[in-house]
Amino acid sequence: MNDVTQKVLSMLESAEGPVTVEEISRTLDMPRSMISRHIKELRENGHDIESSLESGYLLIRSSGPITPDAITRVLRTTFIGTDIRYYESVGSTNWAAKKLCLEGDPQSLNGTVVVAEEQTGGFGRLGRAWASPQGGIWASVILTPKLPVDSLFMLMMAASIAVARAIRRKYDLGALIKWPNDVYIGDRKAAGLLLELSADGDDIHYCLLGIGIDANVDVSQLSPDLQRKVTSIRTELGHEIDRASLLASVLREFESRYMILESGEYEPILREWKSLSLTLDNRVSIRTVRRSFEGTAIDIDQHGALIIRKDNGRIEKVVAGDCAHL
Ligand code: BTN
Repeated sequence: MNDVTQKVLSMLESAEGPVTVEEISRTLDMPRSMISRHIKELRENGHDIESSLESGYLLIRSSGPITPDAITRVLRTTFIGTDIRYYESVGSTNWAAKKLCLEGDPQSLNGTVVVAEEQTGGFGRLGRAWASPQGGIWASVILTPKLPVDSLFMLMMAASIAVARAIRRKYDLGALIKWPNDVYIGDRKAAGLLLELSADGDDIHYCLLGIGIDANVDVSQLSPDLQRKVTSIRTELGHEIDRASLLASVLREFESRYMILESGEYEPILREWKSLSLTLDNRVSIRTVRRSFEGTAIDIDQHGALIIRKDNGRIEKVVAGDCAHL
């Protein structure tokens, strides 16, 4: 790292909050246009630096606990995360969120986030156990969306886009989405999403969006089976990341897309999901409760169904099941 980059780092380290481009330029007597190059070099050296047009550059200091304070400091959302409940250890953040909804008024909990350092009973799709050791991001968001029940899969799409985008933007890793709800880096899973629903027919009481990201998880401590299938951001980058800052980015990316959906626009989300899809155009093997078959994944509809062209040319829609890439 050269001297000037080091000076930029020292300025960010000694600041209490974000530092504007003007301040850096004035203090170090450097043209504004040069600053982004030094910031880029610092990021390449593993420093986590948030940037915003209004407030400037903020150095995220450590990979400390994922507390409400640490998240709030960098959150910048309108309603998601204005209330954050924190646990050092909890059975499942989805259960904790459900308990809040059962004890209170879900409408007034809209946007509440439950986050934990570890889960002792974390679960994923189809009720499968979800390993949730220290180092991960285990969070649930309570939502009372104004969307038709049959379009709720769009929330999962928005959430998986948010996770993939945040990972791509912050760490320059090629995160992609594997149908229906997994975020992959390369050929390994780095995050999963889960949507639980409480509704009476078309009347949605609340949704619980579970977000699990193997952020700083030490993959070598997982079971041999998971070690073959899973990666973490720490594994990919070779250093720990600031989990609060990543969760804040995910929530921000999610909130903007949630608002697009609530305004009745599904097309931009579908389009973005497709552009980040690892599954489309791939040969896949599908296993549902009733049958198994192979084919090429050619599309997805707004209800989340994967559309497969089988080798005999027949088109099949898969609403729920396991999908393996061949
Ligand atoms: C999957 O890929 O099957 C979805 C995994 C979802 C895991 C998250 S972690 C936070 C929340 N709490 C849980 O128990 N599960 C979700």
